[in-house]
Amino acid sequence: MDLGLFLICFVIFHPQFKPMKEESILVTGAGGQIGTELVEALSKRYEKVYPADIRLPNHPTKNFIQLDVLDKPRMEEAISDLKISQVYHLAAILSAKGEQNPMLAWEVNFKGTLNVLEIAAEKKLNRVFCPSSIAVFGPNTPSVNTPQHTITDPTTIYGVTKLAGERWCVHYFQKRGVDVRSLRYPGLIGYKTMPGGGTTDYAVEIFHEALKNNHYTSYIAPDTRMPMMFMPDAIRATLNLMEAPTEQITIRSSYNVAGVNFTPRELSAAIKKQLPDFNIDYQPDFRDLIAQSWPSSLDDSAAANDWGWKPAYDLEKMVKEMLLQLQAKLV
Ligand code: NAD
Ligand code: SER
Repeated sequence: MDLGLFLICFVIFHPQFKPMKEESILVTGAGGQIGTELVEALSKRYEKVYPADIRLPNHPTKNFIQLDVLDKPRMEEAISDLKISQVYHLAAILSAKGEQNPMLAWEVNFKGTLNVLEIAAEKKLNRVFCPSSIAVFGPNTPSVNTPQHTITDPTTIYGVTKLAGERWCVHYFQKRGVDVRSLRYPGLIGYKTMPGGGTTDYAVEIFHEALKNNHYTSYIAPDTRMPMMFMPDAIRATLNLMEAPTEQITIRSSYNVAGVNFTPRELSAAIKKQLPDFNIDYQPDFRDLIAQSWPSSLDDSAAANDWGWKPAYDLEKMVKEMLLQLQAKLV
């Protein structure tokens, strides 16, 4: 037997060999902060990726379908017609917008998630991703190194919808056999898109304002610390979780995942190191109260132990990369 044939046989007959299934992937809320980058990453790995959103994209988008996650029959039809095998369900109303329109947040986040989970059960989809958030925690949760399993008493309607979503994920896994997976994303920071109305948005806006005006007025108080994550880490965490073998997934509510954590004062100091003329002032509003009810850092040892999670970016590395990429865009 020649070496090539030997190697092929070795791989195919290896006990851990699993041929990559051809997946057809629907991404709801694909026009948002995460969706824009996740679709790009998924499209590099899978041929059939269908971005969907209630809003039309403002540039030509391959395979785009307009879809309201509250329209269950239409979503069922799209999932059947496109032979969808996995859904990444990102459509949501975020925390700050949710506080301004609680009923809309409840409808979209809660009912939209239930629609996705129910269709996944009926159509026996291979896998579903339903992200959660640090917003499931509340003022009585231990704030430092917040454990995976702890008090969850959210004070925002957004947090309530996310916590309800987590519990429905457990139900659909246990009672209906849906392979649903989830991450409690911290605040996400990326240079490709603007965030969509969350409490953590300041940590993206600050970079844009620093480059344009050398100044930022923060609606979060100087010493309010929140867990955050650079988008490349968030995309990697998502793909690693979704591609992990089923037996490695022990948590079906949602995994804590940590990246970095900082206060506006620390973030502005890190930016000032790169842009010495930058300055910041503070006008805290209702979003600072939301932020104060959330953890300041997370214990993500369950994600590390189960499927090997480890962030790659610290504050300094993230700040340098954000400024470099945004400067290139501005040029
Ligand atoms: P985003 O606000 O940027 O995007 C959400 C998208 O959903 C938008 O494009 C919007 O048009 C779409 N949408 C709203 N209502 C819809 C409906 N009825 N039908 C279909 N689409 C609809 O949000 P994001 O930051 O990309 O967040 C994606 C997911 O990740 C959400 O579940 C969010 O709760 C979660 N998450 C995000 C962060 C973060 O910092 N970005 C942190 C924690 C959790
Ligand atoms: N970044 C999100 C928000 O601020 C957290 O889920 O709403």
